[in-house]
Amino acid sequence: MKLITTESHEEFATMAASIVMRKVAEKPDLALTLPTGSTPLGLYEVLRRAERGGDFSLERASVFMLDEYLDLPSYPEGSFVAFLRENLGEVIFNGSTKLATINPSDRPDDYDRALDAANGLDLAVVGVGGNGHVGFNEPGDDLGARTHVVDLHDDTLEANFADVAREERPTRAITIGMADLRSARSMLMLVSGSNKHAVAELLAAGIIDDRVPATHLLDHDDLTIVMSGELLRGV
Ligand code: GLP
Repeated sequence: MKLITTESHEEFATMAASIVMRKVAEKPDLALTLPTGSTPLGLYEVLRRAERGGDFSLERASVFMLDEYLDLPSYPEGSFVAFLRENLGEVIFNGSTKLATINPSDRPDDYDRALDAANGLDLAVVGVGGNGHVGFNEPGDDLGARTHVVDLHDDTLEANFADVAREERPTRAITIGMADLRSARSMLMLVSGSNKHAVAELLAAGIIDDRVPATHLLDHDDLTIVMSGELLRGV
């Protein structure tokens, strides 16, 4: 595992972007996952700029959504696909990039078949939840599973829907499983956010803890973690 700690939002974003851009330059037709959340927003801004400047393109790539809410009352508003459209726009909605979306009505097996048809993931870019979830592989979930439906934990809903009334929140999601993430040829894990001190410390120390899914990626052969340095300074 290679750990890179950064000292500012800008450094975090440019470091993550340089890794993604290098991987895409090495294999322009790669299959990759991209996460939602506030963590990758700076990365996506750098990628949008690079794309506009002609320095970056995902036109030959296949982008797999990491997860999707299943019973989101406001769907498609607040969905993963809406997030991607808003934050990556032309970078992936350009008519050329293959985008594998998970629709709430899809069967998990269909997504596994799409992953198999792409010969698995070349690059898994993942964020981490405050409780250590990856995608929506929550603590206690089957760490050997492929795409599956999960019941979202209360702390995840609290983190992701703090401003949304309970009846407007989803309760379930569909997620790529840890099995497919673990078998990605390369992995980039992004860790930032003030609710992540505990998980950041485990990751930085290389401690695999059964209750924290993100730590189950620590023994991956090609894992780079880009982490906000302030998470390791304690509060
Ligand atoms: C959601 C997503 C995860 C993401 C997490 C962290 O739960 N399913 O893929 O990593 O949010 O979000 P944030 O970056 O906002 O902390």
